[in-house]
Amino acid sequence: VQAVPTSGPSTEAAEIAALREALERSEAQVRALRSDTQHRIRNLLSVVRSISARPIERAASLEDLELHQSGRINALARVEDMLLRGDNSADLEEIIDEELLVVLGGQGDDRRSLEGPPVRLTVKAAERLALAFHELTTNALKFGALSREDGRVSVEWRIAGDRFHLTWRESGLPVMNRSPSRRGFGRDLIETALPYDLGAQTRLSFAPGGIICEIELPLTGLLIVSASDVPGLEMRS
Ligand SMILES: Nc1ncnc2c1ncn2[C@@H]1O[C@H](COP(=O)(O)OP(=O)(O)OP(=O)(O)O)[C@@H](O)[C@H]1O
Ligand SMILES: [Mg+2]
Repeated sequence: VQAVPTSGPSTEAAEIAALREALERSEAQVRALRSDTQHRIRNLLSVVRSISARPIERAASLEDLELHQSGRINALARVEDMLLRGDNSADLEEIIDEELLVVLGGQGDDRRSLEGPPVRLTVKAAERLALAFHELTTNALKFGALSREDGRVSVEWRIAGDRFHLTWRESGLPVMNRSPSRRGFGRDLIETALPYDLGAQTRLSFAPGGIICEIELPLTGLLIVSASDVPGLEMRS
């Protein structure tokens, strides 16, 4: 088969130049993707390390440690799944709901309420907060409102100015130690790691009826707020 020349040498040179440019562009994209993946892996490993660095002597038993560590890794796996599906962001309500549904199962509807505008979290905030909601949920099950048939959890969030405010409120707990001396992984994560990693301000109050956990975050880089909910706001990391 003989090729029929359809263009002169100058068009051919232009086509070659355009192809070369397209090739260079896609090579640059591959390089960017590779460096993004390396960055993600390094970060993910540091989160896994923070989970597994917990000293054995602080756990009630080896079984307890095993159970809690695998619960944490599973929570991290769930949010990584969401981040993959969501192209590097995840829906806040879905993250909280997933954690509560793992412990509440089918009877979740009347024991939890989630209320707030649509908010998507970028990778770092999504990973840290998913772990925080996992800790709050397991604590609620072990010591708090979810340890009782009639206990409830309500989570509300809002955007005010350039800050995000969230309140986790448990109710229906008749007796509670108002100042527990123990500080395990849960309190460490909420009271120390969230402020350090995300610049959050957090407060855990052991109030009558159930704990209240308040989390306040700067919006920049951590959250993507739908512009229709807060006019003028559209943030990306
Ligand atoms: N929702 C809650 N209701 C009542 N008390 C709570 C609640 N969450 C935590 N506490 C109290 O605060 C203490 C510290 O909680 P924290 O999550 O830091 O540790 P832990 O759950 O005991 O252990 P770890 O989180 O390391 O598995 C608990 O031992 C408990 O006494
Ligand atoms: Mg705990």
